[in-house]
Amino acid sequence: MKVSEAISSRMTVRQFLDRPVPKDLIVEILEAAKRAPSGGNLQPWTVHVLTGDPLKALIDDIDVKLKAGVIEEPEYNVYPPDLVDPYRSRRRVLGQALYDLIGVPREDLPGKLKQLSRNFRFFDAPVGLFFVLHRQMEIGQYADVGMFMENIMLLAREHGLDTCPQEAWARWPQTLKEHLSLKDEEMLFCGMAIGYRDEDAVINRLVSEREEFEKFVTLHGF
Ligand SMILES: Cc1cc2nc3c(=O)[nH]c(=O)nc-3n(C[C@H](O)[C@H](O)[C@H](O)COP(=O)(O)O)c2cc1C
Repeated sequence: MKVSEAISSRMTVRQFLDRPVPKDLIVEILEAAKRAPSGGNLQPWTVHVLTGDPLKALIDDIDVKLKAGVIEEPEYNVYPPDLVDPYRSRRRVLGQALYDLIGVPREDLPGKLKQLSRNFRFFDAPVGLFFVLHRQMEIGQYADVGMFMENIMLLAREHGLDTCPQEAWARWPQTLKEHLSLKDEEMLFCGMAIGYRDEDAVINRLVSEREEFEKFVTLHGF
């Protein structure tokens, strides 16, 4: 598969098949992804990979907490509280398209929360990844981890797999600290579901928009 094909076929998948991903495949993808660049070659990422019992234990724990109304102090603000346009509109358009697709009306808050909670089942993916950094890290290192994550998402495509990067997991720092035995200086940045796409799931028909070239590129001196 060409890189361009991996890029164009990558999308966020939010419903996976109940089909296991062999350990060797996960190892191969992570081994290849580690060639991601990082400023000063810090390689500021560590990854926890969960499947089977540890994954089930985490999902069950959060399920109980959600039903009991437990809320944790999020690890960080996923979005700025006062998000400005055009970013605010883009986020709204994406959310609306997703809820329209699955038939959740604008005013149906419980329906929206139910969909949000699907994050915490990794959308039924058989494998969940967590990306962790040292708390000392700065903006540059978060970009590094993003590049590492993109490598994983593109390599997944090469192997017929799909992914969903998940900042939603930043809502559960205490629970994840316990389940992953994180040290105080370790910070949970992002989760990622990985598995085989459910081709029949309506939610996987969501095609997100992108701005036109002129809207985000300024050419100088051409
Ligand atoms: C770092 C990161 C975190 C994300 N977190 C979530 C998440 O928690 N839940 C979710 O459903 N989608 C999440 N997404 C997916 C985005 O909504 C998605 O990438 C965007 O709408 C563009 O769609 P596409 O990935 O299908 O091209 C995340 C994406 C990124 C890059």
